[in-house]
Amino acid sequence: MEIKKICVLGAGLMGHGIAQVCAQGGFEVTLEDIKEEFLQKGLDRIKKFLDGSVARGKTTQEEAEAVLGRITTATSLEEAAGDADLVMEAIVENMEIKKETFRQLDKICPEHTIFATNTSYQSVTEIATATNRPDRFMGMHWFNPPQVMRGIEVVKTERTSPETVAIITSLCQQLGKEPAICHDSPGFIANRLLQAWRTEGLRLYDENVASFQDIDKALKTAYGFRMGPFELADLAGMDVVMAGNETMYNELRSDVFKPPRCLVMKFRAGELGRKTGKGFYEYK
Ligand SMILES: NC(=O)c1ccc[n+]([C@@H]2O[C@H](COP(=O)([O-])OP(=O)(O)OC[C@H]3O[C@@H](n4cnc5c(N)ncnc54)[C@H](O)[C@@H]3O)[C@@H](O)[C@H]2O)c1
Repeated sequence: MEIKKICVLGAGLMGHGIAQVCAQGGFEVTLEDIKEEFLQKGLDRIKKFLDGSVARGKTTQEEAEAVLGRITTATSLEEAAGDADLVMEAIVENMEIKKETFRQLDKICPEHTIFATNTSYQSVTEIATATNRPDRFMGMHWFNPPQVMRGIEVVKTERTSPETVAIITSLCQQLGKEPAICHDSPGFIANRLLQAWRTEGLRLYDENVASFQDIDKALKTAYGFRMGPFELADLAGMDVVMAGNETMYNELRSDVFKPPRCLVMKFRAGELGRKTGKGFYEYK
């Protein structure tokens, strides 16, 4: 099956970037969100990114306009996904909302349409149960920002067909991305590894082995990491990090992911990181 029309659900941090990458790849894209203002915000972010690319000579004005011209928007699922070959979901990280959305899509979309979820921590296998097409359902886990990060995890369940995996893997390559194929498992590959080393870094601080600044410094200067665990927690937000730790801890029943005390305290104090101006570090 050839993918021509792509529908992206959710125009937020991930969805707007995914829609842009698909349009840059030459696909017709419909971006859907629950409110017109969220769609406008997503489109504004895409325009800003493209303007920057034109200014830096990475793309031409004509190409930027052509990319924008391939993106349409909608606030109804019927309008957005009714004739899509692929629906990529990047809405709020909530199991019930994701399942309800796919339940509706299953009725709206043609039989051949493939469904992909960008969930970070929820079970792809469970989301797929909301549909009657588990063979055409999988995870496509993009990284932030989608326009820049090269990797995509292609997540298959026990029931995803080899044909669906092949179509999505080939699409990733067409979009200039590097697919890494894995089975459905909490945190997939990259987030599970990231969560493990970040948690251990925070635990060093709980144990008073070093200041958080020195823990960040050691990792960056010793191994060339671009950020240490505390800088990374501030960037992602304590609420997001906590949710990740708790999901992995409960799902995998492993103390490796037990939320460290310093994380719990920052979360409870509302010092969430960059987004609140203060996390482990302070931001002006
Ligand atoms: N933020 C990241 O770094 C990152 C990385 C990889 C994957 N993800 C995953 O991508 C998904 C989206 O995350 P995000 O960071 O872009 O969130 P976000 O909050 O920035 O955007 C979510 C968007 O979905 C919209 N939305 C909510 N319910 C909807 C519905 N029923 N139908 C259509 N739109 C709806 C919201 O209005 C919002 O615009 C989540 O599942 C998240 O776990 C996030």
